[in-house]
Amino acid sequence: MTAVAAPDVAEPPILEVINLHKRFGDQQVLRGVDLRIETGKITVIIGGSGSGKSVLIKHLVALLRPDEGEVRFHGHDLFQMKDSEILQARKHFGMLFQAGALFDSMNVYDNIAFPLREHRKMNRAQERATVLGRLEELNLQGAEKKFPAELSGGMRKRVALARATVLEPEILIYDEPTTGLDPMLIAQVDDMIAATQEKHKVTSVVISHDMASTFRIAHFIAVLHEGRIVEYGTPAQLRNSANEVVRRFIYTSGTGPLQAEARAPA
Ligand SMILES: Nc1ncnc2c1ncn2[C@@H]1O[C@H](COP(=O)(O)OP(=O)(O)OP(=O)(O)O)[C@@H](O)[C@H]1O
Ligand SMILES: [Mg+2]
Repeated sequence: MTAVAAPDVAEPPILEVINLHKRFGDQQVLRGVDLRIETGKITVIIGGSGSGKSVLIKHLVALLRPDEGEVRFHGHDLFQMKDSEILQARKHFGMLFQAGALFDSMNVYDNIAFPLREHRKMNRAQERATVLGRLEELNLQGAEKKFPAELSGGMRKRVALARATVLEPEILIYDEPTTGLDPMLIAQVDDMIAATQEKHKVTSVVISHDMASTFRIAHFIAVLHEGRIVEYGTPAQLRNSANEVVRRFIYTSGTGPLQAEARAPA
């Protein structure tokens, strides 16, 4: 993947976080987060454990309300919307939770068809074509009758991705999609995030702990530290960051960006 040019600031982003504050009791987690999510690109959010990454992305889909600040979706603040409008906006989002969260009692086919049955009026033939098409794209052909317990970890991730993307959302949010996977599976999941973004031009927001993954897939990287975005830029810009926190974070985590450099020169 080649580095992309700096964002065109004249174009309004699909999602914009402005001065977001959130506290739980005495704990101030977000202290004024500002972040643009560029349309059709992959933005990776990195930061230490407990720094508030999951809290931040829950605001992007209005699962949490801020104490102060805005999340603008196509220029409209989610927190000024009526509930019915928020539900409408959420249909544009797909969310891939860390645990994958498949329905164990349903086979692969029904897991992927579930969102279609909830949100789309399709006849059986259309539904079948959509589900089988998505399975083929993710190299899962023939797996439709299997149950989640019969799948490998990587297959389960791919089925979860198929389900999260079957409604063709404009924005996909992944909360630590590779945590706990072995290096082969991490590379597979990275490839599938990149392929999904490329094929469907899906705006993608990925939370990651894994620096090699981050540098492999990101168009933009945002570093969350002590409640704020302390650095934002392309992978090349981040590698050259003079910010001490950023340098420590990137270069001392076990999987530094160095091995990723071979694959993703920037
Ligand atoms: N609903 C909640 N009520 C109270 N505290 C919360 C709640 N959700 C998160 N927190 C606290 O906010 C802080 C940030 O949590 P968050 O889950 O966003 O961290 P994170 O950056 O995603 O960490 P990790 O990388 O370990 O997943 C933590 O201290 C957490 O305990
Ligand atoms: Mg988290």
